[in-house]
Order: sequence, then C-alpha cells, then structure tokens
Amino acid sequence: MRVLAATAENIAEVAAMLRRGELAAIPTETVYGLAGLATDDGALAQIFAAKDRPTFDPLIVHVPAARARLAALEEDGLVSGVASAALVDRLLAAFWPGPLTLVLPRGPRVPDLAASGLPTVAVRSPRHPVAQALLDAAGPLAAPSANRFGRISPTSAADVVAELSGRVPVVLDGGPCAVGLESTIVAVDEAGLRLLRPGGAPAEAIEAVAGTKLVAGGEKIAAPGMLPGHYAPRKRLVLLDGPVASGTTAPAGRLAALLFDPDAAGRLGEVAARVLGPTPEDAARGLFAALRALDACDADLIVAEPCPWPEGLGHAIRDRLARAAHGSSE
Ligand code: TXA
Ligand code: MG
Repeated sequence: MRVLAATAENIAEVAAMLRRGELAAIPTETVYGLAGLATDDGALAQIFAAKDRPTFDPLIVHVPAARARLAALEEDGLVSGVASAALVDRLLAAFWPGPLTLVLPRGPRVPDLAASGLPTVAVRSPRHPVAQALLDAAGPLAAPSANRFGRISPTSAADVVAELSGRVPVVLDGGPCAVGLESTIVAVDEAGLRLLRPGGAPAEAIEAVAGTKLVAGGEKIAAPGMLPGHYAPRKRLVLLDGPVASGTTAPAGRLAALLFDPDAAGRLGEVAARVLGPTPEDAARGLFAALRALDACDADLIVAEPCPWPEGLGHAIRDRLARAAHGSSE
C-alpha cells in the first residue's frame, strides 16, 4: 500500500484514481475513510470487499462543503422528499462541515448498494481540507471507516496500513485525526430526531440547535453497523466499575490498562498503561490509538477505567468502549 503525503500533486493523483472508480483511503477529521465514488456500483462493491463488510451495512456518502445545503443535496439527487427541511437546514448550517451524519430519505442518484437497499441515505460533509479537496475534484464519495469490519477505526495513515495493506492501493496521509471518533449519526424522520450513534458532535449541541430532544435509536437496529461487537481489539478488554486501585500489580507484561486518571499510571508498576485526557476532546482523540497500542503490547488482558464524563464526548467514548469490550469477549 502506498502512503502518499497530502501534497497538491498527490491529491490530484488520488482524485483521478477515484474518478476512474478505484479506491483510496483518505483522512477526515473523525477517522480515516475508505473512499470510492458514491454513484459507482463497481467502486461500492470494492469497498465492501476490501473491508470484509457485509452488504447489509450501508455506507455514509460524503459531500463537498460547496454542496452542503439541503437544496444542493436534492439537486444532486442524493436525498429527496425531506419533510423537516427547515430543521435539516439549521443542522447543516451549524454542523457542516463537521462530525454530524444525517440519515435522510434517499435520492435517485444513490445506488442500492450504498444504502443497502434502505429508503434512506446517510450523508455528511467532513471538516478536513484533504477530504474536501478530493470531494471538490471527484464528487460525492462513499467512505466507511478504513478498518476491516468490526475492528478498531484508524486515526492515522499508519493505522490504515495496519488494517488494509494489500487490499487498497493507496492512503493519503493527512496527519492524525483531530476528533478521533466517528461522526454522530442522527436520523431525521416522522419520529423527530433519532440518535443512531453518538460521536464527534455532542448530542447536547445538536439538541440546542434543533430546539428538540434526540430520542434513542430504537430497538430495531436502524444502523446495522451499530452491532454491539464493533471496535474490537484482539485481546480481551474488561471495563472496570471504578478506578484502577493503587498498588495493582500483575505478572510482568500480562496486564494492560486504559486509564482516565493521570495519577494512576505511576502507581501501576509492571502494567502497560495509556492515559486518556485530560479533556474529553483529548481522550476522544487518543482513544483508538491507545486501544491499538495496548492491543499490540505484550499483555493478555486490557482493563479500562470508567470514562469520567457523563455527557458530550463522554457518551461517545463510553459507547466505543462498551462495544470494544463486547466484541473482544465474542
Ligand atoms: O466519521 C465517520 O462517520 C466516518 C468517516 C470516514 O466519515 N465514517 C464511518 O463510516 O464511521 P462507517 O461505515 O464505519 O459507519 C457508518 C454507519 C454504519 O454503522 C451504518 O450502519 C450507518 O452509518 N448507516 C449508514 N447508512 C445508514 C442508513 N441509511 N440508516 C441507518 N444507518 C446508516
Ligand atoms: Mg466503522
């Protein structure tokens, strides 16, 4: 897999590849994405194959900031017949480009494969200059996170190489991801706003702009990728009820710890540790890299302290940890 610096020349080369229907891994502000033309069945099929992703798990369509208004999305055939137009426009104006994905009624230009045959489509405009340059040059891009299905999402070009080397020809290196967690996914329908996945845009901020509460996603799996065993390390991950106790020891090299208390690390002796924080933003940015590092270290078990922030990004961090723990025990 070629790792290309994000120079103007390389961006132009990758945009040309994408226009020909080839795939490329690209940086976004949330996590790296595996991009292909959103309107090209061949490219979409390659995305599912490269990730080992089941075709019942639909993709997010990324759009350029220049087309990031509801009227433009409708003109471009990506969405159609949105009932709450004023609400959607308000959300787009406040959060795009950025880590908010909206699930809206699907337009005629979105192939069945992108939406897994659903009558809806997930759309977002990413806040990353490299992603935006590619979208300007190639048009709407479908891009799931650039990891193999069920594994930890990549937040650096090196992570993408670890996940997809030999399966995808190229990754554009846009540096480490500034947000570090995937976008928040909200469905807009008759029921109002449903939170399908907590993520980089805090639910409270979305509610403030919408002037209405987000309701929980619902019992049936509205986002099939939101299966409990996502984001899984290879090692077993156990979530603790409280902070790691002072003086915790383990046979050398057997235990690894994901901590939120910066003082805990110094007390742990033989335990490989990664500390997340001090702010929720820092913790979100570092979460997947820390999980990857601990997964690669010489330990049999990873324990994680509870995430200390009840709201905002804390919600998304807890969600990812719970899924990672569930997946690791399967
Ligand atoms: O931050 C992000 O959203 C990243 C970057 C690359 O943009 N992308 C990402 O894609 O996380 P992915 O494929 O890993 O997760 C997309 C989620 C999946 O769980 C999928 O089920 C859900 O979006 N989704 C897509 N279309 C949907 C739809 N029409 N209805 C409900 N859920 C949908
Ligand atoms: Mg993913």
